[in-house]
Amino acid sequence: MTATALADRAAAGYSARYGAEPDGVWFAPGRVNLIGEHTDYSGGFVLPFALGSGVAVAAGRVPGGALTLCSRQEAGEPVTVAVDALRPGVTAGWEAYPLGVAWALREAGWRPGGTRMAVDANLAMGAGLSSSAALECATGLALCELHDLRVTRAELAALASRAENDFACAPTGIMDQSATLLCHAGHALLLDCRSGATEPVQLDPGAAGLALLVIDTGARHQLTDGRYGERRRSCEEAARQLGVSSLREITDRPDEVELLSDSRLRRRARHVVSENRRVLDAVALLRRGALGDVGPLLTRSHASLRDDFEVSWPEADVAVDAALAAGALGARMMGGGFGGSVLALVPEDQRDAIEAAVDAAYAERGWAKPAASLAVPSESARRLR
Ligand code: GLA
Repeated sequence: MTATALADRAAAGYSARYGAEPDGVWFAPGRVNLIGEHTDYSGGFVLPFALGSGVAVAAGRVPGGALTLCSRQEAGEPVTVAVDALRPGVTAGWEAYPLGVAWALREAGWRPGGTRMAVDANLAMGAGLSSSAALECATGLALCELHDLRVTRAELAALASRAENDFACAPTGIMDQSATLLCHAGHALLLDCRSGATEPVQLDPGAAGLALLVIDTGARHQLTDGRYGERRRSCEEAARQLGVSSLREITDRPDEVELLSDSRLRRRARHVVSENRRVLDAVALLRRGALGDVGPLLTRSHASLRDDFEVSWPEADVAVDAALAAGALGARMMGGGFGGSVLALVPEDQRDAIEAAVDAAYAERGWAKPAASLAVPSESARRLR
């Protein structure tokens, strides 16, 4: 389903639910992270790109100061909350993400007014493709445009991230919100999470006879379950013990990691420091037009996430190994870990064989067939109607 078709369906959902036409429909894409995993909250480098699929929010202004929300993907009656009554803890379901954005806007001094919204999505939830950031940012764009709030995209990314951390209680970094708001079609986005500086980096797998495959392993994850937060705290503790403000500070002095006496902290820090280096190496290769050579970096990233950071999961390891054995140039788990998707860089003409090899490896273990799809670097969030 195209983004335009999704926008039409969201508008129809709005009309069916509220008996009126929406004032507009806003769309925010999910993201793939080419490389740079678990580096963002340590001020490091990431290299995501926007997908063609994502979340659409059909929205309309209404008198008064209440927000009303419903979603095609969630059963039940619409949720209504007054903007003035928003505070963390007021809600814990899916609506915490969009309501959190209204709360963060209000906290920053903006006044989103009464709004009705109907949410729709063509992106798998919990698949490690950042459906929550897409939901937050589509909502944020809708509220800003409907109520004439002049928030820049970089500010909105920061506010959506605040919503996710302080309202939805998922202690995540800034990568996903930045990706959905700041990426460009045909490009990945090099984001320096310390300075906020961004740079588009051309990424055209098709031109190189290659394809980026997203394999949804079917295992599901929750960024609020404590394991993600534990990794984040370990990185902060490692930085503290090394006397630096974040692990980013020792990107050029990787040996300092070995000074950590605790072996667990040492492995966590080793992942972050080596991953930052891999992002910069991947960018240098892309700038030389050598996408194929990025493959081994992806595979090393996976090994590091599996062995040192310990956030991989069995279905991801099996998919990575099977894809590599069948001819993928590189493969790795993506996102926060413990569930979600694997990314594989494959020669276009071997795509079918590689997918079949992964399917066979899953079948051998009695696991359900994983869903594979092509990831094409696409446009960032925008108004569609
Ligand atoms: C999740 C978080 C991001 C980032 C990744 C891991 O997607 O939302 O901020 O930390 O995990 O790279």
